[in-house]
Amino acid sequence: MGQLFFFSFLPLVSFLMIIFSQTKPVMAVSLNTNSRWIVNEDGQRVKLSCVNWVSHLAPVVAEGLSKQPMDAISKRIVSMGFNCVRLTWPLSLATNRSLASLTVRQSFQSLGLSQYISSIQDNNPSIVDLSLIKAFQAVVANLGANNLMVILDNHISEPGWCCSETDGNGFFGDKYFNPDVWIDGLTQMATMFKGVSNFVGMSLRNELRGPRQNVNDWYRYMQKGAEAVHSANPDVLVILSGLSYDTDLSFLRNQPLSLTFTGKLVFEAHRYGFTDDKTWRNGNANEACGIVLDIIMRSAGFLVEQGWPLFFSEFGMDLRGNNTLLNRYMNCFLSLAANLDFDWALWTLGGSYYVKQGVIGFNEYYGLLTWNWTDPRNSNFLQRISALQSPFQGPGLSESNEHQIIFHPLTGLCVLKESMPELLKLGPCNSSEAWSYTANKNLSLKGTNFCLQVDGLGKPAKLGSDDCTGSGSQWETISDSKMHLSSEVGNATSFCLDVDSDRIIVTNICKCLSKDTTCDPESQWFKLIKSTRNLNS
Ligand SMILES: *[C@@H]1O[C@H](CO)[C@@H](O)[C@H](O)[C@H]1NC(C)=O
Ligand SMILES: *[C@@H]1O[C@H](CO)[C@@H](O)[C@H](O)[C@H]1NC(C)=O
Ligand SMILES: *[C@@H]1O[C@H](CO)[C@@H](O)[C@H](O)[C@H]1NC(C)=O
Repeated sequence: MGQLFFFSFLPLVSFLMIIFSQTKPVMAVSLNTNSRWIVNEDGQRVKLSCVNWVSHLAPVVAEGLSKQPMDAISKRIVSMGFNCVRLTWPLSLATNRSLASLTVRQSFQSLGLSQYISSIQDNNPSIVDLSLIKAFQAVVANLGANNLMVILDNHISEPGWCCSETDGNGFFGDKYFNPDVWIDGLTQMATMFKGVSNFVGMSLRNELRGPRQNVNDWYRYMQKGAEAVHSANPDVLVILSGLSYDTDLSFLRNQPLSLTFTGKLVFEAHRYGFTDDKTWRNGNANEACGIVLDIIMRSAGFLVEQGWPLFFSEFGMDLRGNNTLLNRYMNCFLSLAANLDFDWALWTLGGSYYVKQGVIGFNEYYGLLTWNWTDPRNSNFLQRISALQSPFQGPGLSESNEHQIIFHPLTGLCVLKESMPELLKLGPCNSSEAWSYTANKNLSLKGTNFCLQVDGLGKPAKLGSDDCTGSGSQWETISDSKMHLSSEVGNATSFCLDVDSDRIIVTNICKCLSKDTTCDPESQWFKLIKSTRNLNS
């Protein structure tokens, strides 16, 4: 019965979907930069909170369309709190006409993957006989109908998994990376999507790398690519990736890029836990976090301080959550993401690929969604990134509102006060207390005399108005990660803020500040974040 109903209903649904997606007013966004911020036409900050959606593998069809209708996927992206998608594409989709004009059906057939055709037919009947380029446009249009901004990311030249040193796609002049063809492809794509209102930016090339990479050619070709994209489509942000798999933009510190246009340039950076595998594996978590944050600041984070927008367009982890090293990295990274309040794109959306490196139905453990693209793989993780999905600072928020929030990256929650009984607990950052960190090192509720105080080992931290100059009420950030909030009680003892199993804020002995490589200090990791958000509380 259910099936019969489903099949007879489907054409009506897709008919209505077409009507709706054509008549529904779609937001028009044109983004610019203002110093380090990305802003809309009214000058208000728009924080890119994106997820990567892969469309550059062998079939050159956005992944997941055999599992779910594209509109359901778009709506799922919205429901997970994102406002944008970094959609990947292979260069040949724009430069090889015979590839671009293959239909979705033909593309799967030619790869010997005909088994996907009927499930694409079931879930997305309207695209099966569209050409690859039209199907790609349909995905962008559907994201737009769901008010999701799109960044088109030229991920690779030839369709397939990216990236290695020697895959011929790494740097200008490599086997599959002719700079002229690349510029032609970028121009085609920027032109084709001109006027598409949710198309806001173009990542010019993902993860430059390999034996040919060098700074001189970076300037030479990135400049050309940026000019080509801008003249083809002056509406979109031009987003440039660094060297060494986009982990290194340090060369920009002393030699800025010279372009004929302003207000559109954004830099992107990537980093994963495995990038610094040895550091995390062999080091103490606080020391490793200190080292890695220092590398990120020197190689990319400094751009924010120099007044450039930084789009952290790839980071992610195995969302089964059982890899200690990746978990440590994520906690460390989330503290930086909150502190610098940069734009970002998580790797990745999909729970599986049609085919990745020869494996059919490859399970993507970094994917937010499950293998069948129905549900979030790890809802806990979604909570952890939710605080980062809206801006803490920037044009459009009120500077006079400035306060600190106490962010806890392990949970993605913030320290707030509950009244009955009066307790400090972790809760949603939007309901955070507004704190101030004063010159005499008190953490006070903003505008009051109440300061955070130690009550004793293992006991809930308290708010007191007496004795804010006494022992147990001055707080310092200690350890290499600078994420333990510690207060001295008596001569030789310090307690650190911690969280108990009921999410109550307590004070404990400071955990594994250095040396110990086995212990996890992350329950004690807190980051003071400058915020000018309006708070609900
Ligand atoms: C263009 O794409 C077609 C279809 O995939 C392929 O057979 C052909 O080799 C490609 N041409 C070039 C020049 O890469
Ligand atoms: C995580 O768990 C899965 C299956 O439960 C296992 O295959 C994998 O090796 C584990 N990863 C780590 C790092 O322990
Ligand atoms: C999707 O996968 C989950 C678990 O992997 C399973 O419980 C669920 O039934 C699947 N849904 C469909 C529609 O196949």
